[in-house]
Amino acid sequence: METKIRQADESDKKVFIDYSIKLSKFNRVNHNNDSKYDDYSLVIKAIKKKAEETFKYRNENTLILIAEIENKPVGYALGRIYKEDETADNGTGEMGLLDELFIEDRARGAGLGQKLLNEAIKWMKEKGIKRIKLHAYSWNDNAIKLYERNGFKEYVVSYETFI
Ligand SMILES: CC(C)(COP(=O)(O)OP(=O)(O)OC[C@H]1O[C@@H](n2cnc3c(N)ncnc32)[C@H](O)[C@@H]1OP(=O)(O)O)[C@@H](O)C(=O)NCCC(=O)NCCS
Repeated sequence: METKIRQADESDKKVFIDYSIKLSKFNRVNHNNDSKYDDYSLVIKAIKKKAEETFKYRNENTLILIAEIENKPVGYALGRIYKEDETADNGTGEMGLLDELFIEDRARGAGLGQKLLNEAIKWMKEKGIKRIKLHAYSWNDNAIKLYERNGFKEYVVSYETFI
């Protein structure tokens, strides 16, 4: 099985947008029912628009990686470099953000998520980045396991309640 991680090119626009939507659908299915009161078709529309803009305006601070098996896409990663808010009392300055990561269900467990993560970290290191942030939902055991195994540590916990 030949696997490959490569940077996206102009022809990957549709692949990137489709995967952004698939990642959202994966999340939606796994959220508790209390969160699903809204019109999800509008959310999908907004995600599509955001992905289109991310792709169109990608620059030297944007990384879009495509994971392939036998030259066919099976997943992607979106990384960014951004300036942390100046009011951030736990450290300001330039940060890496691993914004999105997704491997198709059928291709999971074969090490491609790890490879995407490795490539994203390598790219950020080469850009002089010393700190990488990412966000994971608390139910996402597979992702959390992957990140913690790679040295990521929890630094914020978000809470919600319905009133
Ligand atoms: C998280 C994710 C990107 C990992 O990608 P992957 O290619 O399956 O990961 P790898 O093969 O590199 O293995 C990393 C870990 O994934 C988990 N894993 C293994 N098989 C898996 C499977 N069939 N399905 C899901 N996760 C699996 C394991 O925890 C594995 O660690 P282990 O080797 O110690 O058992 C992938 O499961 C995914 O796309 N999930 C849905 C989207 C998602 O959660 N994205 C992250 C948002 S924060």
